[in-house]
Amino acid sequence: MSSDGLRGGTALARFFLREVVGEGDRVVDATCGNGHDTLLLAELVGPDGKVWGFDIQGEAIAATATLLEGAGFRERVELLHAGHEQLDKFVSGPVVAVVFNLGYLPGGEKGCVTSPRNTVAALAQGIKLLAPGGRICIVLYTGHPGGGEEAESVESWAAGLSPKEFHVWGCRQMNRSAGAPYLIMIEKAY
Ligand SMILES: C[S@@+](CC[C@H](N)C(=O)[O-])C[C@H]1O[C@@H](n2cnc3c(N)ncnc32)[C@H](O)[C@@H]1O
Repeated sequence: MSSDGLRGGTALARFFLREVVGEGDRVVDATCGNGHDTLLLAELVGPDGKVWGFDIQGEAIAATATLLEGAGFRERVELLHAGHEQLDKFVSGPVVAVVFNLGYLPGGEKGCVTSPRNTVAALAQGIKLLAPGGRICIVLYTGHPGGGEEAESVESWAAGLSPKEFHVWGCRQMNRSAGAPYLIMIEKAY
């Protein structure tokens, strides 16, 4: 865990991921961005594991590749310059984790954001690939144009999942503003 402890949705997502991802596992980063989640996943799966990383921006794929190379983990990750709505074309399950960090690339083009349709399409594919006990972590942002609509779509899709098959959690940090990023975590039941 970082020195920020459990500050914010991203830190809580990483806490949930660390519990289930281990050496030799197969996992997905559905939104690589600057590569921080991809790097964590590559570290957790070790040399015998596999990470698939998706982003539609070449800039994000390049930043992620640089970060991985610096850590010596590049060969653990298949980077895909493609939309996560094509997840099941590239990824073969079972996977123990899928990570979504929605919104725009920090420091990048703010007009290039994740969309309700593609995010929900990728989530629907992701739950089919999930191993029993596997988790999907989704960090949601409502502060940018379209972010609120995307969050509503994801919440409504996730709330409709069978409680016998999936455990769905919505996690907000109560002592931050109502608009702060928050986490939805979906665990596939055993
Ligand atoms: C908030 S950033 C991710 C941050 C990243 N997890 C990190 O640690 O730096 C969201 C990313 O989603 C990407 N994105 C937008 N639509 C996408 C799609 N359909 N498939 C994959 N990535 C997408 C954007 O290009 C952007 O880089």
